[in-house]
Amino acid sequence: MQEKILVLDFGGQYNLLIARRIRQQHVYAEVKSYNGITVEQIQREGYKGIVFTGGPNSVYDPASPHFDPGILRLGIPILGVCYGHQLLAWMAGGEIQAAENASEYGRVALSAAGGILFDGVPPESVCWMSHTDFVSAVPVGFRITASTENCLCAAMADDARRLYGVQFHPEVTHTVFGNQILRNFLFKVCACRGDWTMEDFVSASIERYRQELSGKNALCALSGGVDSAVAAVLLHRAIGDRLTCVFVDHGLLRKGEREQVVRVFRRQFQMNLIVVDARERFLTRLKGVTEPERKRKIIGEEFIRVFEEEAVRLGKQDALVQGTIYPDVVESGAGSAAVIKSHHNVGGLPEKIGFERIVEPLRELFKDEVRAVGLELGIPEELVMRQPFPGPGLAIRVMGEITEEKLTVLREADAIFREEIMRAGLADAPSQYFAVLTDNRSVGVMGDARTYGWVIALRAVSTDDFMTADWSRLPWELLERASSRITNEVRSVSRVVYDITSKPPATVEWE
Ligand code: XMP
Repeated sequence: MQEKILVLDFGGQYNLLIARRIRQQHVYAEVKSYNGITVEQIQREGYKGIVFTGGPNSVYDPASPHFDPGILRLGIPILGVCYGHQLLAWMAGGEIQAAENASEYGRVALSAAGGILFDGVPPESVCWMSHTDFVSAVPVGFRITASTENCLCAAMADDARRLYGVQFHPEVTHTVFGNQILRNFLFKVCACRGDWTMEDFVSASIERYRQELSGKNALCALSGGVDSAVAAVLLHRAIGDRLTCVFVDHGLLRKGEREQVVRVFRRQFQMNLIVVDARERFLTRLKGVTEPERKRKIIGEEFIRVFEEEAVRLGKQDALVQGTIYPDVVESGAGSAAVIKSHHNVGGLPEKIGFERIVEPLRELFKDEVRAVGLELGIPEELVMRQPFPGPGLAIRVMGEITEEKLTVLREADAIFREEIMRAGLADAPSQYFAVLTDNRSVGVMGDARTYGWVIALRAVSTDDFMTADWSRLPWELLERASSRITNEVRSVSRVVYDITSKPPATVEWE
């Protein structure tokens, strides 16, 4: 039987990160909301261990999330983290207090006093804290195993019952020995084997959807991006021809993109793929529009309309497959995590079209895990490892009004720049790189003649999270080759400039 850990979610921001850190140790972890599972279900599932996550509440607040104390009597090892640590203490009969003027936030020095969780952790290290309440009296049977200056009970342990709590966040990299602490819980406390692989995730997901969607039809909107591609191939492996994929060509794609989608999904995977040529429709609606947010809105709305029409044309579809991944869920504030921003992948389509259910096979995964699943499924590396591309496509890279001519110029220049970057085989490749068609023309000279052509800007950035980004220090020779090829091969471009602005103050995209 596959061993697995339950991450019981009490609404904190880092909860999926805990699951990811556990999976990185080759132990499968699944996240369930505290109000979506009972003690009996937990017992039936045969979990090797349970992690209580953090959360924004105070255990004394009657509206705060709680759990059936019967969970402590199951004999399954428990690790409480942050709010989970306080909740564990409270459920076991300990006391919690609000720290007056002594809440801790950020990196804090941690002194460990031994115990199984701290095996291999030096007596003095650094942890990441984010709390106001603290455990002021440990329950009977527990002892304190680590402290910080302001928090006497930074960790507690009851070895006999295998119950542990840490006030800090071991899943955050700022907790220097966080991984070691999680490993100790998994392997020394829970006696996990650590033999889970991505292949297991893929085969379990295929089996799950094969059963759940038995005899049902499903529809998937392919964007050409990594997430929807991986979700679609996974579902195709589960339900075969009962999955239909729709790819909308809105005329704002990069050079070769539509062909790549057809090659991979129709030829390689032999999937039911409908390519909707909506180029004219989008261009007509975008005519005369120069304001970036308006462009985004029109494209979003039109996309939904085209997709809806296809769904209606196809007849009844039971399920909608979406490539939602975990960062989308967090940003949209699903579950009880605080709302940060709404995302186009979560919500929106389904209510309008009336699917029986939404299938989101990648909902618990991070981007690098989605890529690993994609490679496992045999999706070509060029698609799986591709750089992000915005939903509104080239519309936000053509400054000002969008015309067929401007799009053609941009597409060619962008393809040359991307080709030169690929060809250079940089060890430290930029995270995202593309060309922008500025709305300016500039004087040039070609042979003996004066020209007056477009100005193309090249943009390349390095970043981990796209919240901030540094402009990439590309080799001069590479920039020179790109500039020379673009001005030679793309008629009507007279000048190429390189964007050396980081984010902030600039954004990655120009619009
Ligand atoms: P910015 O320009 O905000 O970009 O620094 C950060 C990342 O988000 C992408 N981006 C978008 N993606 N729809 C999308 O799906 C959009 O409207 C959009 N705007 C920006 C951008 O390409 C970069 O990866």
